[in-house]
Amino acid sequence: MKDKLIIFDTTMRDGEQSPGASMNKDEKVRIAKALERLKVDVMEAGFPAASVGDFEAVKAVADVIKGSTVCGLSRALDQDIDRVGEALRNANSARIHTFIATSPIHMQVKLNMQPDEVIEHAVRAVKRARRYTDNVEFSPEDAGRSEEDFLCRILEAVIDAGATTLNIPDTVGYSVPDQFGTTIKNLIERIPNSDKAIFSVHCHNDLGLAVANSLSAVINGARQIECTINGLGERAGNTSLEEVVMAVRTRQDVFPCETSLDTREILTCSKLVSSITGFPVQPNKAIVGANAFAHEAGIHQDGVLKNRETYEIMRAEDVGWSANRMVLGKHSGRNAFKTRMIELGIDFSSEEELNEVFFRFKQLADKKHDIFDEDLQALISEASIDADEEIKFIALKVCSETGEIPRAYLTLSINNREVSADAEGSGAVDASLRAVDQLVDNSAALRLYSVNNITDGTDAQGEVTVRLEQDGKIVNGLGSDTDIVIASAKAYINAINKIKSSAVRSHPQKGTV
Ligand code: KIV
Ligand code: ZN
Repeated sequence: MKDKLIIFDTTMRDGEQSPGASMNKDEKVRIAKALERLKVDVMEAGFPAASVGDFEAVKAVADVIKGSTVCGLSRALDQDIDRVGEALRNANSARIHTFIATSPIHMQVKLNMQPDEVIEHAVRAVKRARRYTDNVEFSPEDAGRSEEDFLCRILEAVIDAGATTLNIPDTVGYSVPDQFGTTIKNLIERIPNSDKAIFSVHCHNDLGLAVANSLSAVINGARQIECTINGLGERAGNTSLEEVVMAVRTRQDVFPCETSLDTREILTCSKLVSSITGFPVQPNKAIVGANAFAHEAGIHQDGVLKNRETYEIMRAEDVGWSANRMVLGKHSGRNAFKTRMIELGIDFSSEEELNEVFFRFKQLADKKHDIFDEDLQALISEASIDADEEIKFIALKVCSETGEIPRAYLTLSINNREVSADAEGSGAVDASLRAVDQLVDNSAALRLYSVNNITDGTDAQGEVTVRLEQDGKIVNGLGSDTDIVIASAKAYINAINKIKSSAVRSHPQKGTV
């Protein structure tokens, strides 16, 4: 029997810290259910002390998830720990993750504390967390730049205080594989009570080494990897879940452990996270990129047809790229639609909600022949966006012709009152966004505009992301439609709604403790 490698997903916490990637309660619940189907061992649902909304989101995840441990993050502060304990009260299996920085630069500049004080805080935090659960994780933040002797001291002390998982974060992505692996090996060998805890790693990708560092740590004794779907995360992101999981599975000759994930759910999770956050997946991204299993060059194709192992080291269907994808269409009834939604983990809170989304489904099926799971997820996103928004999209007409200046005629509902405007632009999208600006008071700067197709084919829905920034706040607006000009207007309106309503949330790692 090989050891188990614990997969700790932090898409909803560290992934969410990526500017513009914030998720609301319903979005987190949808992601959490997808992660549960993927069978992740632990999911970190957020940082409850950040705001009431964050607390509610972690609580909502803890209330519904039964198959995975739900974890919440806290600084080494009594009030943070109590907040996490409260949010996780109904969890079937709960973990509290507490952390404090241990590198010389963080202790001096950020914490303004002596090393002994840092140890005292860490021990106190772990003991307090143990009042709520016996599953407590401790992280020495910026361990990648901390002194090994100091790490040994603090980790020994927190194990004695009751920590059951010791997570070693390479917070700024500074480590390189051999050195990081050696650090893990040394810590396990040098800490006298190391056998009482599981060693975990949490790597950032600033040098593009997060996956390599995590795997090197596993070879040297780590038995938990912290990672995110699509490698989502601040700056260059976190360790990509799909890459580490498939590396361990594909190279069982190298790794002394195995995961218990249902890897066929990987692609669904990837598409869901991308669509909720508005962070597209690059086509050549390993495992989940559109080209990852496309053997287009003639020679490759020939080789694959003769024997797939000539060029394929993994099977596309093992990560969810299936040739026989379940489709719905114009003739699918309400029952088939509802059943598929339930299979995707989407529960309707009322018959009205089901009817509303079914109506949207029928409208889409009139325009598009095959409706895939990704289309259904986009419908849900659209429905929840519309329900909450102060500014709503009603209608758009665009005149665009070679040699003529495009003009858009737009109708919105603002606080339940219909208003219309028209505007010219350099193209149809530009004219539509300018028409929005005529109706809405908006001074945010446009930071990104991108269009991606949700599924294949020219009848596919386009999914547009619009990123806006104002006063240090960054939001991603999303819109989908078979007409990308309409999708663009919807995404822009969604971003404006978000920037108007989003509160400033505290960041767990930018405070003092
Ligand atoms: O990168 C980091 O150090 C973290 C900790 C809070 C674990 O995310
Ligand atoms: Zn991190």
